[in-house]
Amino acid sequence: MKVLAIESTCDETAAAVVESFGGGVRVISNVVASSVEMQKKYGGIVPEVAAREQIKSIIPVITEAIKGEEIDAVAVSYGPGLMGSLLIGVETAKVLAWAWKKPLLKVNHMAAHVMANWIVGEKTQELKNSRTQDIENFYDIPHLPAVGLVVSGGHTDLILLESLLKWTWIGGTRDDAAGEAFDKTARLLGLPYPGGPEVDKAASKVTEEEWNLNKNKFKLPRPLLHDPGLEMSFSGIKAAVARMVENRSQILDNSSQMTVVSYTNLVAREFSEAVTEVLVKKTMAAVEKFKPKDVILAGGVAANKMLRELLKVAVENAGLKFYVPELKYCGDNAAMVGAAAILRPEGSELDLRPEPSLGVV
Ligand code: KG4
Ligand code: ZN
Repeated sequence: MKVLAIESTCDETAAAVVESFGGGVRVISNVVASSVEMQKKYGGIVPEVAAREQIKSIIPVITEAIKGEEIDAVAVSYGPGLMGSLLIGVETAKVLAWAWKKPLLKVNHMAAHVMANWIVGEKTQELKNSRTQDIENFYDIPHLPAVGLVVSGGHTDLILLESLLKWTWIGGTRDDAAGEAFDKTARLLGLPYPGGPEVDKAASKVTEEEWNLNKNKFKLPRPLLHDPGLEMSFSGIKAAVARMVENRSQILDNSSQMTVVSYTNLVAREFSEAVTEVLVKKTMAAVEKFKPKDVILAGGVAANKMLRELLKVAVENAGLKFYVPELKYCGDNAAMVGAAAILRPEGSELDLRPEPSLGVV
């Protein structure tokens, strides 16, 4: 079955054609148009601008994704997200399903982020085509039960996936999402929108030598780190970054070699360390509690270098397997929407309405 999947929850307009492949899905086409350059001018998302850009891009993006493929069903993200943006994808999907007389499948955008881990990579497909003996290994998809950490601009959740369909929320942030904290920290540091990738880049410019020399001057809190529960909090770290930035001139005056750029990089490094430490600790606490087979990382912040590396090490040290999507499937895309539609199908009538505040489970 080939599914056309549509994604328009925020500032990306995306369409993909995917089909099932072993226990996962294979991507036939994956097209993403982003209005991020436009949002940069405003230093953040303006919902009205995002929605208008969605209208411009949706038909060209779908046309490019389909490229003559026969489609068996149409899937669309119907929430969470911005109402204006969601409407464009949802209405387009409804019209296509109606015109083509094909089933309409509705997809929760956060569940789609998780299901990006079931996208079978090109390498796996090559192995399958070469008829390798090791069947178990070439479908490199998560084994359940698994603990999932979902980190995006609006959500930070820990979930237990007992089966493809049975998911339970087991913890998460009580205030800001991790991605939101990255974006706000970037803004405080004068880095452009979207902030997450910029903070990531700045942090990775700090050499180990520079870090060891300066790290005691850059201490941020790790909220709830020693709390036994699976609750997290990121608003305090962000507030501490604001205080740190206010004292910038004092640190710069006291350190002759430090430039504004190296100061920014060091704050970005400490901020990334603090957020990653909390995320890794809470995920491993969930592992301890629920004894899963695997750990899955997903969402836009799953692109973060330090988080990918340190969580992988922690998970593998505990003897479990770690899964994270390829970078192109971490941020918003439609291939993940197709993966969710195929592996957790949810049919919908043609009166589907967006649900801007849908939760991950
Ligand atoms: O999942 P996503 O693309 O959209 C939502 O569903 O929210 O996540 C976007 C978030 C933004 O906050 C962005 O700054 C953050 O993911 N992000 C990153 C990185 N790449 C994107 N945060 C940290 N490091 C990154 N490399
Ligand atoms: Zn997203």
